[in-house]
Order: sequence, then C-alpha cells, then structure tokens
Amino acid sequence: MDISKVFQNNEKWIAEKLAVAPDYFEKLAQGQSPEFLYIGCSDSRVTAEDLMGIQPGEAFIHRNIANMVISIDLNVMSVLNYAVRHLKVKQIVVCGHYACGGVKAAMQSTDMGILNPWLRNIRDVYRLHKDELNAIEDMDRRYDRLVELNVQEQCVNLIKTAAVQSAHKERGLLVHGWVFDIHTGKLIDLKIDFPSILKNIMEIYKLD
Ligand code: CO
Repeated sequence: MDISKVFQNNEKWIAEKLAVAPDYFEKLAQGQSPEFLYIGCSDSRVTAEDLMGIQPGEAFIHRNIANMVISIDLNVMSVLNYAVRHLKVKQIVVCGHYACGGVKAAMQSTDMGILNPWLRNIRDVYRLHKDELNAIEDMDRRYDRLVELNVQEQCVNLIKTAAVQSAHKERGLLVHGWVFDIHTGKLIDLKIDFPSILKNIMEIYKLD
C-alpha cells in the first residue's frame, strides 16, 4: 500500500464524520470518559474499535503481543492505573484471539531472542494448566485452549493489582475475558467468573 493513501483516507474519514455531526471534532477535543479499558493483541488482523463497532472516545486501548498483563511491565501498568484511577472505567476487557502468533511461539521450543522473557509469561500459563492442556491430543484444539487460558490468567493478573481490587470494592469495576475467533469474526465471551476467581485468590493477593 502506498503510504500517501493513508492521508487520502484520513481526509475522507474527516468528511464522513463532519457530514454526520459538524461539531464532531470539537466534541472529541473536549475530553474523554471511556466506559471500558480494552487490552488486546498487537496482531494486525485483530483491530479493537472496528471489530467491536465502537467509536473514538468509547474505549481506552492497550495492545501488546498476546494481550499480556505483566506486573513489571510499566507500559501496561501505567495504562491500567490511568484507566482505573483517573478515567474510572467501569469494565476491563482482556481480548485474545485464536491463531495468536505469540501464543504459538510460546508453545514451541525456539530461541526467540528478546521475545524470550515476554513469551515466558505464556509458558507459565501453560505450566499452570499443563494437565488440562496435555490431555488435549488435537494440537489445534490445544492451541485454542491455551489462547483461552492465557486470557483467563491475564484477567487474574488484573485482579492481583491494587487498582482493580479497590475499584471493584468501591464502584463494582468488572473484568471480562474474551476471545476473537479469527476464522469467523465472532467475539466470544469466555464468561470468566470474576467474583469466584476473586474470592479464590484474595487470601494470597489481597492488597487493600
Ligand atoms: Co496475537
């Protein structure tokens, strides 16, 4: 694609927005109060706003390889704390996707250089759920299941943070785990039982 096409697309997009609402950008410039924080994969095929049908201003977005929530990653932790403590989002979503290259790489015994410590966090998810995963003989199904379990564990990682724990107690903040099925375009709610996970791990991770 010719990079200059991007600027033509932008002009077209501006015209479309202004045709519907002449004050669209003035309103956008006034500030944001997004309802939710979305943490997804950087994969170019898995967009955030587009697949959810939402508009600018509706979600605070963070994307990285394999939608990870790592406690010493200053980037994701800054996004989380800003979204929860300042923007006061009402929901947090971790959205993984089938055919995730990051999850696939973590399932293979290959030296990926600088990616090794990042992927190790996914290997840790595998180790936590090793019995369930190794019992799945179909490798494609096992791969899909690791994508799902990785989402679940990243939700747990959110729940371990003081920001999420206190916002849950104060104003009922919720955490959701979703998977985008790249083969069909469908968004699947993994229906992670947030209150029961919380109850289960609080004796270890309670901070407030
Ligand atoms: Co991915």
